Amino acid sequence: MTDVAAKDSLTVTDNRTGQTYDIAITDNTIAAKDLGQIRLDEEQPGLATYDPGFVNTASCRSSVTYIDGDKGILEYRGYPIEQLAEKSNFLEVAYLLVHGELPTKEQYDSWVHEITYHTFVHENVKSFMQGFRYDAHPMGMLMASVGALSTFYPDARNISDADNRHMQIVRMIAKMPTLGAWSFRHAQGKPYVYPDNDLGYTANFLSMLFKMSESKFEADERLVKALDVLFILHADHEQNCSTNAVRSVGSSQVDPYSAVSAGIGALYGPLHGGANEAVLRMLKRIGSKENIPAFIDGVKDGNERLMGFGHRVYKNYDPRAKIIKKSAEDVFEVTGTNPLLDIALELEKIALEDEYFVKRKLYPNVDFYSGLIYEAFQFPPEMFTVLFAIGRTPGWLAQWSELVQDKDQKIARPKQIYTGDRELTFTPASERWS
Ligand code: CMC
Repeated sequence: MTDVAAKDSLTVTDNRTGQTYDIAITDNTIAAKDLGQIRLDEEQPGLATYDPGFVNTASCRSSVTYIDGDKGILEYRGYPIEQLAEKSNFLEVAYLLVHGELPTKEQYDSWVHEITYHTFVHENVKSFMQGFRYDAHPMGMLMASVGALSTFYPDARNISDADNRHMQIVRMIAKMPTLGAWSFRHAQGKPYVYPDNDLGYTANFLSMLFKMSESKFEADERLVKALDVLFILHADHEQNCSTNAVRSVGSSQVDPYSAVSAGIGALYGPLHGGANEAVLRMLKRIGSKENIPAFIDGVKDGNERLMGFGHRVYKNYDPRAKIIKKSAEDVFEVTGTNPLLDIALELEKIALEDEYFVKRKLYPNVDFYSGLIYEAFQFPPEMFTVLFAIGRTPGWLAQWSELVQDKDQKIARPKQIYTGDRELTFTPASERWS
């Protein structure tokens, strides 16, 4: 038995042996390793938990992002997302996530200067990006290019040095828009546009995406603001699938480019960042409001999912979805409305009243409306997740930085419950096939 105050402990009786154990409770969790003392006998392994998808397992302590899924609350370093989206900008939020507090004027100016200064990439990066197939998915290009940056900055392996970590964090936040924009231009067969460092972070990204022969590309300020807000909304979301991938890969002490590249791979999937692309395809497939009831019936019969709905953590309206809905109005003021919006609004209305969705607490998530905004910007659906990845980069890096400084952390290595055969006798192929 562990020697702990009864109040902050869990008393468990193993009915197989009749033995009782006290297990300490700290921060409303028990340490999984404490279960290891519960065993049938010395020969048997200790008790473990079975938790596919980490549904009820904390993998770290973190002070980056707070979410209360039942109440629909999201805070970065304690600041509510609604305030940040309305009153801050993406680079300030990135500073907040990475450094843990808001910058002074000097810190902010220096941060913006550093990031702006590092937006260019080595010319060889451009050459290898040009080598991708003409129709390469931009997320595949982004994932590969970010991973490849590790070969340009071998010093990034020195993850125990704080200045070095800072350097790589700045580089990555700075270069993501360049790589993302070039992935987009590639599929269009258009020349890659170099960064314009007279422009702000988001305006420069739009310039690299859309500039043609004009000497300077100046995006509508309302569109710049809307995209900046979208980046803020995506900047972190605690231990989601891609952040978990960054932390898991980072736990091997590999360089941050390799770790973030793994995060981009995780984000690519349709159940994670790829959902915004899937939402748009779904809305196009539904085609008109009359087809919604039949579509909803198909979802309820388990034939498919209503993409952009449901969340592992939010069992209430995703606070980001509310802000995005408002941003959509601002964008449509500039670009004209998207006819798919009517289908989305009707779909939301029907789903929010339908018992199937109500019972399972399925509400619109961040991806339900973001795709409509991205389409208004004239991004093809393949680009949507790239935009998510650019926004999420400061969050991945803040979490990675926290991981490498956390003394509790170890290389990620889950247990398994083995279900296969044992102790078979191997017959060589020459005998098996004769
Ligand atoms: N449409 C229809 N049914 C759903 C949906 C949906 N979108 N999401 C969950 N359900 C049902 C599911 O079938 C299950 O029903 P039952 O209890 O009868 O088996 C129940 O709700 C619980 O679902 P789950 O799959 O156990 O929940 P999860 O926490 O494992 O999955 C999710 C979360 C986001 C993967 C899931 O809700 C989903 O697939 N949503 C659609 C994809 C999507 O929009 N993803 C973006 C997530 S937000 C951005 C991000 O963080 O990446």
